[in-house]
This record gives sequence, C-alpha cells and structure tokens, in this order.
Amino acid sequence: MEILIFPDAQSLARKSADLLESQIKTYPDSVIGLATGSSPLGLYEELIRRHNEYDLSFAGVKTFNLDEYVGIPAKHPQSYRTFMDENLFNKIDIDASNTHVPDGMAENPLKVGPAYEKMIEEAGGIDLQVLGIGTDGHIGFNEPTSSLGSITRVKTLTRQTIVDNSRFFKSDEFQPKLAITMGIKTILDARRILLLACGENKAEAIRDMVEGPLSAFCPASALQFHQRTTVFIDESAASKLSLKGYYKFVDEMQVDLLRQHRPSDWISR
Ligand code: GLP
Repeated sequence: MEILIFPDAQSLARKSADLLESQIKTYPDSVIGLATGSSPLGLYEELIRRHNEYDLSFAGVKTFNLDEYVGIPAKHPQSYRTFMDENLFNKIDIDASNTHVPDGMAENPLKVGPAYEKMIEEAGGIDLQVLGIGTDGHIGFNEPTSSLGSITRVKTLTRQTIVDNSRFFKSDEFQPKLAITMGIKTILDARRILLLACGENKAEAIRDMVEGPLSAFCPASALQFHQRTTVFIDESAASKLSLKGYYKFVDEMQVDLLRQHRPSDWISR
C-alpha cells in the first residue's frame, strides 16, 4: 500500500483529481469505480471545476458505484444514485447510460449482485476504484466479518453504520438497514485503487487497514492483498499510524524516482 499524508483536505482532493485526470486522459474509455459519502466530495468538486475550466471530458467514461441502499427509490434524496447525480454526473459530460449504481428497488434484490458483476465484467473490469472507509473499517458496505472473497450482494448494515449515516435522514424518515454492495473480491479485482479519508474519526480504521492484521473484522485490511492501492489521508486520519514517519520518508524517496523513470505508474491498465 502506498500511503500519502496531506496537510489538508483541499490538497488531498487536488491530488486525487490529478490521478483521475491522468487516468481519463490516457484512457478516455476508462471504467471508474465510484464511492459516495463525504470523503470523495472534494475530488468530485475538483473534477467538475476542471470540466468547466478546461473541458476535462468524461464522454467516453463508464462508472460503477460501490453500493446503494435497499428499499429507497433512485429519486429519493438520500439514495446513492441521487448523491452521484447531484454531486457529479449532472455537472459533467458523462453519458447517463454509462453510469451504474446498483438498483436498490429491484423486485428481487438478491438478483442484483450477479447481474452487476456481469456488467462490470462486460465493461472490461474496473480500471480505477475510488473508495472511502467507514469508521468500522468497511469499504463499500462490506461490514466487519464480510467474506474477503465476497462479490456484489445484499448486506445488512451494522448498528454503527446505521448511526453514522443517520445524520442524512430525518428522524421520522425510513432509514434503510440493508444495502447492495460490491464485494471485497469485486473491489480487489480493480486494477488500481485510491482510498480517501480525512478526519480523526477515521484514524482507527486507517490504522487497522494499513497496520492491523489482515482480518474480516476490518474489511479494508483486505487491501493489503492488492498490488496497486494508494491511500490518500490527512494528518488527522494518519494520527494513529505507528509508522507515519516511515510513510512520509517512503514518499520523499519514491516521488522523484517514479516521476523521472515511471510516470506511467500513476495510471492504471
Ligand atoms: C458509507 C458508504 C461508504 C463510505 C462510508 C464513509 O457507509 N457506503 O462507501 O466510504 O460511508 O463515508 P464518509 O466518507 O461520509 O465518512
């Protein structure tokens, strides 16, 4: 895992947008895996700004979102489809038919997963997967004890995730307890992964993911198996890492080397 620690959320957002921009410019037909939540918001704002400023184009890009709640319609203000439409898709030149979010209102939610996996496969697999992380170490909605070999399926949310996400729902509103999420294997199959996290409330999960034992108890620790995972975090999210100084040293040592000799390493495929 490559760990990069940023002084603030703005520089983190800019650098993650740089990574996506080089991916999309090199491969305009890239397949990008996307996440919801507050973590990728700065990245999405930066991509929209670049689209408006110098026409960064998403016309050939296909996207697959990680997850969706079961039981609320796509048009619901808290659906992940609405989140993506409002915070990214409606503001760039992506073809709506190239954007995919699992269908949380499918008559049989159990059938959604295998069909979603097939669509990803038919698109040629995910080139770059953007991830956030839950305070309990979940990625997508792969809650603790999720099988490390899981594929897209229905998951029951933990109490902690329900409480964490209750801030988005009105107190008298139905809050889903089930979600359809890409599995851990689906995520690990992406050619490149970029995980974003800011804030002290993520520090423990980040520590467990990077330095903890590989364990289904911290689903994000499965990323230790992935060959090209880059983790962008701010100082607060990095605060519990015991080898924090080492990660900064590695960064200093590697940046120039990669820039000079293997700039293509910043791009997947
Ligand atoms: C949700 C999403 C995850 C996301 C997590 C963290 O549970 N399913 O994909 O990473 O929240 O969200 P935030 O970035 O808002 O902290």
